[in-house]
Amino acid sequence: MKIAVLGYGTVGSGVVEVLMTNAESIAKKAATPLDVKYILDLRDFDESPFKEKFVKDINLILNDEEVDIIAEAMGGIHPAYDFVRGALEKGKSVVTSNKELVAAYGPELLEIAKENHCNFLFEASVGGGIPIIRPLNSALTADEIYEITGILNGTTNFILTKMKVEGRTFEDVLKEAQELGYAEKNPEADVEGHDACRKIAILASLALGEYVDYKDIDTQGITKIKKEDMEYASHMGYSIKLLASCKREAEGIYASVKPMMIPNHHPLAPVSDVFNAVLVKGNMVGDVMFYGRGAGKLPTASAVVADIIDAAKHKDTNIMCFWSREKLEIQSNENEHA
Ligand code: HSE
Repeated sequence: MKIAVLGYGTVGSGVVEVLMTNAESIAKKAATPLDVKYILDLRDFDESPFKEKFVKDINLILNDEEVDIIAEAMGGIHPAYDFVRGALEKGKSVVTSNKELVAAYGPELLEIAKENHCNFLFEASVGGGIPIIRPLNSALTADEIYEITGILNGTTNFILTKMKVEGRTFEDVLKEAQELGYAEKNPEADVEGHDACRKIAILASLALGEYVDYKDIDTQGITKIKKEDMEYASHMGYSIKLLASCKREAEGIYASVKPMMIPNHHPLAPVSDVFNAVLVKGNMVGDVMFYGRGAGKLPTASAVVADIIDAAKHKDTNIMCFWSREKLEIQSNENEHA
């Protein structure tokens, strides 16, 4: 089966690496070899061992009937939205790590995939390498999910951890997170909480089956956290974490992203460095927690490639649950504590 990878940055190059490194076992699991036919990127990669695969024109990919699956790892809405939509309309499955795209256009793209008997999969859009989309789409679907609380941004968790443990400055640690490939191109999306906001909107939409618009979620970042706040929290037996949460209560649905002081015995308190964790509460299953590397090249690529394998296994069969396009009303709860 032929694959095209859109974008050869941190995640895109990771996808090619995972597909090549684990080719044999992946072929068994997908029941067919998966071959990268094209890599779309506007930059020149003349020194790359895959240089013959690079193209700059999306139409070459969209018009090639041999290509069944497209992995979008460009990030951002434009031109990703047009490329993804164009692919789905031609019946090509799309897998993506692009949380901005999923948070803004998820319901529409899921609908187009269904109409065209293909799949729009986005495991890597939340929690990097942690499986969280798939459980919410399958193993936990019998439950009424009434709460999701997570550390959903690796960069900010890395910064908060290093500030606390090593007493380093915010700027110094942010620079390291950028060098390690954790931070967004514009790290404001990380440190102001917008990235975590999009991710909790995606999880909430999936859990509730209706569209939670990220723009309705009250969002604060970590830029105002000082070294003294860290010391004060530690002294009291608390940790400061950027928590993204969505709760269903009698009065409605509450969602927020904000730095919170949580007691050190809270299950999310020990989650450090680039790790993410998501605590899901269901009315039947009880509490379930997911933990792993929330950012970085190979963990994120691992999730993208798992989606490619699923898309290959389920060619012509749509496997995703849907969110209605109608927006759920979201409230913010100023007085909430973790
Ligand atoms: N910038 C994101 C993070 C990358 O730090 O979590 C993974 O989505």
